[in-house]
Amino acid sequence: MSMVTCIAPVNIAVIKYWGKRNEELILPLNDSISATLSTEQMHAKTTVMVSSNFTKDKLWLNGKKRAAEAAGQQSEFVKYRVHVCSENNFPTAAGLASSAAGYACLVYSLAKAYGVEGDLTSIARQGSGSACRSLDGGFVRWRMGSKADGKDSIAEQLFDEDHWPEMRVLILVVNDARKKVSSTSGMQLSVETSDLLKHRVENVVPQRTKDMIEALKQKDFHKFAELTIKDSNSFHACALDTYPPAVYMNDTSHAIADFVHRYNKSKGVNKVAYTFDAGPNACLFLLEADVPEVLGSLELVFPPHPKEKSFVRGLPVRRLPAMQDAELFQGPHESGRIKYVIHTKVGSGPRLVKGSDVHLLNDEGLPK
Ligand code: DP6
Repeated sequence: MSMVTCIAPVNIAVIKYWGKRNEELILPLNDSISATLSTEQMHAKTTVMVSSNFTKDKLWLNGKKRAAEAAGQQSEFVKYRVHVCSENNFPTAAGLASSAAGYACLVYSLAKAYGVEGDLTSIARQGSGSACRSLDGGFVRWRMGSKADGKDSIAEQLFDEDHWPEMRVLILVVNDARKKVSSTSGMQLSVETSDLLKHRVENVVPQRTKDMIEALKQKDFHKFAELTIKDSNSFHACALDTYPPAVYMNDTSHAIADFVHRYNKSKGVNKVAYTFDAGPNACLFLLEADVPEVLGSLELVFPPHPKEKSFVRGLPVRRLPAMQDAELFQGPHESGRIKYVIHTKVGSGPRLVKGSDVHLLNDEGLPK
């Protein structure tokens, strides 16, 4: 019997992955680049238990039992059945990149349990494309690769988590009641119907990827923000160019983008970058020194719901009064449009957690 428990981070793309050239192997149409977020604030946690007593593979996800046919195949190498229990320490329903952390954690934990060495990113990729970027810390590039078997479609670290220590991240969890189009089906339809996506992958992303790597290398925040914002907008433009359109941002998302542009304009330089995935939540990148004033201004324009007692969660921060030329901002909007904010930073990749009480399974292999 052996039991391991690992945690894995969330990642947020600054150059977006949108579109596959092979659905089966999950091979992307373009390179993407992401920042790995600190596991202190957000992570997936997975316990894997391998035992000769188990009769079949079992999987529990966020407290619910799920079908586990993919967990292990009958072979000489995998002699024993496996029980897997996984949960996120942040709301899955909030639409935050939970599948990436979850799949990365599953693959990493299984590799630890079975003693598998070598590249895991091409395995994680086949669970959910973006998951391959959660296997490393700092800034990570997922290379699209060119081989038909996908062997060269792997993620690699560009810069580690200490490269740009001032970088901070604010996840703005937006109130939204609409039904979501999953990224998997949204991107499939984009590939089938969007001419703009074709233009994006052929003519936009290759140069932007190079520019992003250079901005990161130079720690040029102004340029980093411009590229991040443009790439988010390019991806959402492709989503809207899809037939029928895939609409992910809502009015609050657009109001947040507007807030960022006004703030940056008033500073005469980009102080904040926004990016949106396949949902209405915003992810803002900014430098540590700017967090207090940006948060103060954000709270003025998007007042918290009066019942929300912990509007800003995560890393502690003192809030500064909003920027003086507050008339630059449209608003204030009605309260509660942003539910809450998670304040975090760039962090490291997955790791094994040790200790007797860390496991999610008991000695019988059942969820605690
Ligand atoms: C908008 O990795 O969730 O977040 O490979 O179909 O599982 P599948 O898609 P997924 O797509 C993520 C899309 C994105 C952009 C990104 O993270 O690069």
